[in-house]
Amino acid sequence: MEEYKINEERLWNSLMDLAQIGALPEKQGVTRLSLSEADLEGRKFLIQLMKDCGLHVRIDKVGNIIGKLEGCDNQAPIVMTGSHIDTVYEGGKFDGTLGVLGALEAVRTIKEKEIRLTHSIEVVSFTDEEGTRFGTGYIGSKGMVGKLDESYFRLQDDLGTSYEEAFLQANLNPSEFEKARKQRGQIKAFIEMHIEQGKVLEDHDVPIGIVTNIQGPIWLEVAIQGSADHAGATPMNIRNDASLAMAEIMLQVESIAKEFDGVGTVGKLKVEPGGVNIIPGKAVFTIDLRHGDIVIRSKMVEKMYEAVEVACRKRGAKATIEVKKDVAPAKCSDELIKVLVKSCSEAKVVPYKLPCGAGHDSLLLSEITDIAMIFVRSKHGISHNPKEWSSKEDCAKGTQVLLQTLLHLAK
Ligand code: GLV
Ligand code: MN
Ligand code: MN
Repeated sequence: MEEYKINEERLWNSLMDLAQIGALPEKQGVTRLSLSEADLEGRKFLIQLMKDCGLHVRIDKVGNIIGKLEGCDNQAPIVMTGSHIDTVYEGGKFDGTLGVLGALEAVRTIKEKEIRLTHSIEVVSFTDEEGTRFGTGYIGSKGMVGKLDESYFRLQDDLGTSYEEAFLQANLNPSEFEKARKQRGQIKAFIEMHIEQGKVLEDHDVPIGIVTNIQGPIWLEVAIQGSADHAGATPMNIRNDASLAMAEIMLQVESIAKEFDGVGTVGKLKVEPGGVNIIPGKAVFTIDLRHGDIVIRSKMVEKMYEAVEVACRKRGAKATIEVKKDVAPAKCSDELIKVLVKSCSEAKVVPYKLPCGAGHDSLLLSEITDIAMIFVRSKHGISHNPKEWSSKEDCAKGTQVLLQTLLHLAK
């Protein structure tokens, strides 16, 4: 089944065009935080592109952009594919966007070749996958699987804008989020293509990967209260320095992650009041912990809570911990993996299997349907960085595998 070829040039041009929106001056990267001005512009670009491809476009009640190619049987469950177009601060051109624009290219090819489908295919761009702006993420996919609640709309970004306000500014009604929910049985399968964001494919000299399972992230926000005092007049032995408690905990994040063969990161931190000659009275920071096994991840979290308590006791400080995100690891469907293996051989690429370290909307979709992921090789494994890169040829190969897969599932 390889007589239909995706258009490599057209795919690449769409990736480069979208990367202009939110582009960082003098850097290669992009900042398109969810529902920010740049993201709203990116969303407009995508909606127009979907319309130009002849898809029927709708925005669901949590802002997911969905382009539909109709199959002949409107009772048959949908085959869904896509990813996200929001980015982290100073992110790259490919994270998420390849999954959306590659899906669009595959579906555009199906439409141009007038291939008859039984199942409709929906290309989706999920709202706020990254969680950079409001500190949680997967908002669109959570809404789709019924895992959102009102509390999300009270979250605020660093400028004090609430999620509710951001929704209203994007012409979305926050009180209608429950209507975005889909039930098990409505989606036949969800296939997400994504750049690998690691080095495994490059090290094995293969362009494409088939994901076996996805690590689940948990995000904690820790606030430590010590006491702000004079940096000159307060002797070292009577201080309650919140930043030193934080420093001890940060080192524990590293050692706990190593001990359990998982990963742990402190990516965002601040101390208050923040003066050269003031002992920090307050420290607030995030902890991102991940593992492929939920039982082991729970042990990591348990040890983390203990580490916070020990550090605070030692420093005479107090801590509160808030869970900002908690998503279980997921397994890709064995049946879909078989389809991907066949699609790889049709596209003449080696079907290399590997686990996935990063988080994706697929984690949430696995709550209501079978999932699978196609990985595309990342140069030097760099991601969440302006240097993120995947070659034009590799992006095209992944998209060809996606096209073959969609044909198998929707015909
Ligand atoms: C998203 O990119 C994540 O893995 O946090
Ligand atoms: Mn990302
Ligand atoms: Mn992503």
